[in-house]
Amino acid sequence: MKVQIMTDTRFGNGKLLAEALKQEFSSDVDVNIADVKEVSPEKIAEDVPNAIILGGAIRAFRGAPKSKSWLANLDKILKKSGKKIQFGTGFLTHAMPTEKAQGYAKKYLSKIDTMSMIENTYSELLTAQVKDIKGPIIPEEMEKAKGYIKEFINWTQK
Ligand SMILES: Cc1cc2nc3c(=O)[nH]c(=O)nc-3n(C[C@H](O)[C@H](O)[C@H](O)COP(=O)(O)O)c2cc1C
Repeated sequence: MKVQIMTDTRFGNGKLLAEALKQEFSSDVDVNIADVKEVSPEKIAEDVPNAIILGGAIRAFRGAPKSKSWLANLDKILKKSGKKIQFGTGFLTHAMPTEKAQGYAKKYLSKIDTMSMIENTYSELLTAQVKDIKGPIIPEEMEKAKGYIKEFINWTQK
């Protein structure tokens, strides 16, 4: 099983979250972390993962536009090769209160869900609130993330 976690991080919170998620997978799962600013969708499409977790952040009242367009490109490339990713989900880091981030989360998840080369999209998106603008991630949010990813892993094994 191969899992690709993508981030779009500026202050490193997204990367720390990705690393915390990675810890929850068993050692026989190959989990890779990369940033959408550094690794192209072409590169990821070369060796298609079984699952993708697409991270991003809410900035200037926009829900991860860079991650979304990266994903749309990945979908296009996969269409050409005919290769599919079995499972997909994502996360958004944000500074606003969790309830205010839910609308962004819903839209982001539905973007993942409309990608034709991702076969199954998880029913829920992970949100993680950071303190102030630069973080760090609020400790309870880190705990929530661990619970979330355990549920995600269970779902992929059903
Ligand atoms: C220019 C800028 C605009 C931001 N606008 C918002 C916003 O509209 N809503 C929000 O919840 N957080 C906002 N934030 C906070 C980011 O969500 C936060 O910096 C980010 O989630 C941290 O993740 P990172 O360390 O991976 O970059 C903004 C941050 C920056 C730098």
